[in-house]
Amino acid sequence: MNVLRSRFTQAVLLLVLAFAIFKFGIRPPAPWSVLTLYMAIVFLATIVYVSSDSDSWREFLGPLRTTVMDPGKRPLRIALGIVIPVLLGYYAYTQAAAKPQAPPELRAVHPAPPASIQFRGKEITIAGVENPLRKDTASLGKHVAAGGEIYIKNCVYCHGDNLDGKGMFAYGFNPPPANFEDPGTIAMLQEAFLFWRIVKGGPGLPKESTPWNSVMPAWEDRLTEEQIWQVIMYLYAATNQQPRRWESSH
Ligand code: HEC
Repeated sequence: MNVLRSRFTQAVLLLVLAFAIFKFGIRPPAPWSVLTLYMAIVFLATIVYVSSDSDSWREFLGPLRTTVMDPGKRPLRIALGIVIPVLLGYYAYTQAAAKPQAPPELRAVHPAPPASIQFRGKEITIAGVENPLRKDTASLGKHVAAGGEIYIKNCVYCHGDNLDGKGMFAYGFNPPPANFEDPGTIAMLQEAFLFWRIVKGGPGLPKESTPWNSVMPAWEDRLTEEQIWQVIMYLYAATNQQPRRWESSH
């Protein structure tokens, strides 16, 4: 009970108790900045309390003074001399360490596509290429339907039921999955551009689109060339948009 009468112990207990109440007693949890503010106020109040008269103040400083001066407290001093710098160093580290944060660099959302790409060991030209399936006018509906199936099986998780980029996984990603309803995406792109993006995904983006980490998968090992052209047709049909054409085809 003697210990509890010590001003120093009382002050420490007050601070610990106040912290526990602020940290665990407030629901929903208060943000860290508010917590620090409350703790600063409690700290000041505690100092006022222990220094209310000179006896109390001397009693409060007692343990601190013996820790610093008493020859018998040398091991404690050494321990504190190690623990305090380590804690401060750890705090500095947590403040300076890299966090999962959007990079400050701007991201090229639609970089220039390469002239040609390797697809399963075959060279495919991108520049100037039209969707070959559109020539087969009799089977357009069939290709769109097949593309819809491919979309539901592979793309819906990120790009969403309504092709609006609000799939169930979308919220965890930055950059977010493309919203195909937005006239700023597929409506202003050529189909060959989409072909390249679907084949090579985020990993295939050139340097100006990094260090943003796009989670768009590379589909070259999972979908065939025809399936990719089909899903592209579905994207335009389902959003009622037209791909941008090469000028020469008019
Ligand atoms: C794991 C989530 C995910 C899946 C699954 C996914 N995508 Fe994406 N997709 C993204 C993200 C994120 C972006 C935007 C970043 C970027 O451009 O790479 C994107 C971008 C795109 C773009 C580029 C649009 C533009 O405006 O440049 C196309 C095209 C595309 N996706 C098609 C598809 C197709 C087709 C499928 C299914 C075969 C698919 N995606 C599956 C996440 C995904």
